[in-house]
Amino acid sequence: MSDTIAAEALARLAQGGSFHDLAGKVVFITGAGNGIGLAMAHAFAACDARLALLDIDPARLRAAAESLLAGFPDVQLRTWVAAVNDEAAVNEAVSGAQAAFGRIDILLNNAGISMNCPTLALAGEQWRQAMDVNVNGVFYCAQAAGRFMVEQGHGVILNMSSMYGTVAAPERAAYCTSKAAVAMLTKVLAIEWAKHGVRVNAIAPGYVKTALVDDLIKAGRMDPDALARRTPLGRLGEPREIATLALFLASDHASFINGHIAVADGGWSAYSYI
Ligand SMILES: NC(=O)c1ccc[n+]([C@@H]2O[C@H](COP(=O)([O-])OP(=O)(O)OC[C@H]3O[C@@H](n4cnc5c(N)ncnc54)[C@H](O)[C@@H]3O)[C@@H](O)[C@H]2O)c1
Repeated sequence: MSDTIAAEALARLAQGGSFHDLAGKVVFITGAGNGIGLAMAHAFAACDARLALLDIDPARLRAAAESLLAGFPDVQLRTWVAAVNDEAAVNEAVSGAQAAFGRIDILLNNAGISMNCPTLALAGEQWRQAMDVNVNGVFYCAQAAGRFMVEQGHGVILNMSSMYGTVAAPERAAYCTSKAAVAMLTKVLAIEWAKHGVRVNAIAPGYVKTALVDDLIKAGRMDPDALARRTPLGRLGEPREIATLALFLASDHASFINGHIAVADGGWSAYSYI
């Protein structure tokens, strides 16, 4: 590395957590209406990125767009109501974003559903639904965006896995299996598309305070105090703590990170005592 380049790189790092290279980037976010997807939309808007937002729920998507425009009046954003597990709708939305913005720089492949159920009671339909949204949906979106990224010679894809793609939990056969599949898909795409300038990584959160977790708590399937006690940091994560990881991985600061599964779980999966 020449001195000039080294100095420039150090100057950027010295800016301390700012992500200037994300300004103007076109970011396609799935499941953007709520939770982690919405937090990522706000984080990228704060970096002056342009947003293509997709969600299956029109009311959530509308509210998300309103909150973004309220916080960032100059933000450029477009929305698409679609299910990630509808291949044709995904292709239409991604092509629409490409046409609207001229390119897609970053895909945050975030939409996903939980599926907690004792395995002997898990219906085939529930298994298929988890696989359809969490695996097929991630594949359709990665392929649709990947076509444009490979063609343009650059891009970043972040797939949303889970710590449960790496460590197991009872009564989550479909969820754990689907998130492990996302982790492996991430690695395959990373090595296949690296030569085209496309980096592919996954984020593997632990328990994060979103509707997905709230719903399980309300249904009596999770005890938030027990979850906090089991987490070495002693609490659940906040959506913004996943969003800042996404900023880093999508930015040039992470330019040599490819095929990585980045765990953000407060130490949960490192902990094996009792
Ligand atoms: N919250 C956690 O503790 C946690 C932990 C690990 C991984 N994750 C993963 O993070 C991602 C986001 O989770 P969250 O907690 O923000 O969930 P959430 O339920 O709060 O939000 C998910 C969003 O995705 C949308 N969505 C659901 N199905 C869709 C579909 N088929 N097509 C398009 N949009 C759809 C929903 O309408 C919603 O707006 C998921 O992939 C989830 O598995 C979450």
